[in-house]
This record gives sequence, C-alpha cells and structure tokens, in this order.
Amino acid sequence: MKVVGLVGSIRKDSYNQYVANFIKNRYKEEMNLQFLSIKALPFFDQTIEEDQPTVVKDFKKTIKEADAVLIVTPEYNHSVPGILKNSIDWLSRVDRVMIGKPALIVGASTGLLGTVRCQMHLRQIFASPGIAAKVLPGNEVFIGRVQDKLDENGQLVDQPTIDFLDSVIKTFVKFIQDS
Ligand SMILES: Cc1cc2nc3c(=O)[nH]c(=O)nc-3n(C[C@H](O)[C@H](O)[C@H](O)COP(=O)(O)O)c2cc1C
Repeated sequence: MKVVGLVGSIRKDSYNQYVANFIKNRYKEEMNLQFLSIKALPFFDQTIEEDQPTVVKDFKKTIKEADAVLIVTPEYNHSVPGILKNSIDWLSRVDRVMIGKPALIVGASTGLLGTVRCQMHLRQIFASPGIAAKVLPGNEVFIGRVQDKLDENGQLVDQPTIDFLDSVIKTFVKFIQDS
C-alpha cells in the first residue's frame, strides 16, 4: 500500500517531521510511506496552471499513483501553514488528483490544542470541489505539547499517543483497503 506523506513544516528538526518519521517506521509493514517535498514547489500561479512546471507535474503524478495521502502538519496562526496550502492549491487545479483520494490528517504543536484550528480549516479545504478528498472521519490526531512527547533523538515516546496512533493507523489502512 503506497501512501504519500506531506509535512506542513520545512523547519530543520520539525516536530511534525519527527512524528511523520515515527509513523513511517512504526507502520512500515502496513504501508509504504513516502514523503514528498513541498519546499520545491513554486508559488501557485494560475497563469501557468495549464502548463505546469515539471516539479509540479512530478509531485502530482506521485500523488495520483498513491493509494492515499497522509498530512502531518503544524498550525500557523490558527490555520494551515502557507507552504502546505500552496501545495494543496496546485493539487486542486487541472489534473485534480486528490478527488476521492483517502487521506488522514495528523498534527502536532507546542501548544495545548495540537493543531485543532488548523485541522478544522484543512477539513474544509479538503471538502472543496477541487480537492474532494476522502478524509478518514472520526479519527482526529491532535498532538499537543509535542516537545514533551519526544525524546532527545526526536523519537515519539509518549505511550498514550503511540497507542492512539496504533488504532488510528489500523483504521486508516482498512479505510484505504475498502476505498
Ligand atoms: C508562524 C508560526 C505560527 C504559529 N502559530 C501557532 C498556532 O496558531 N497554534 C499553535 O498551537 N502553535 C503555533 N505555533 C507554534 C508551533 O506549534 C511550533 O512552532 C511547532 O514547533 C511548529 O511545528 P514544527 O516543529 O513541525 O515546525 C506557531 C509557530 C509559528 C512559527
């Protein structure tokens, strides 16, 4: 099962990237998770949407061929980080590769709420006609105070969070299989 991972932070030592790496390693038997860089994408420009740059075409082709998409993102100013939104805007135009695609949203923040407000916006965006992804319902992964849940190597060590991720990923894998 091929899953593409998009991480909404390009920060060196990003907590969200650490969480994403944890998911990739822990569930490698269940899914082949491959991260795609969103840093390399240019700003979305409708002028060139019919003749998209190669980096955008390749990005979209990989997503089109994947069985599902996993988003792991921080919250910026109560919403979706611009760099992630930019990638989503590319995905929503011309070849609309997210339509019907199973997706799971995970988020980690240093604050208590663990990206609740970002994910509310992201779910709205994913319901738009150009994206229309099949977001796994009822499995909201909000990792608040993430800095207290990782060890010095960036490894997720908080057992309740790990247990919850175990159950969510199991549900996500079945959701993908049934889609
Ligand atoms: C521009 C900016 C805006 C932020 N806004 C929020 C916010 O609205 N809610 C929140 O919980 N944390 C917010 N934070 C703190 C992030 O949770 C924290 O920086 C986190 O480490 C970012 O994720 P990363 O480690 O994956 O880069 C913000 C951080 C930045 C840099």
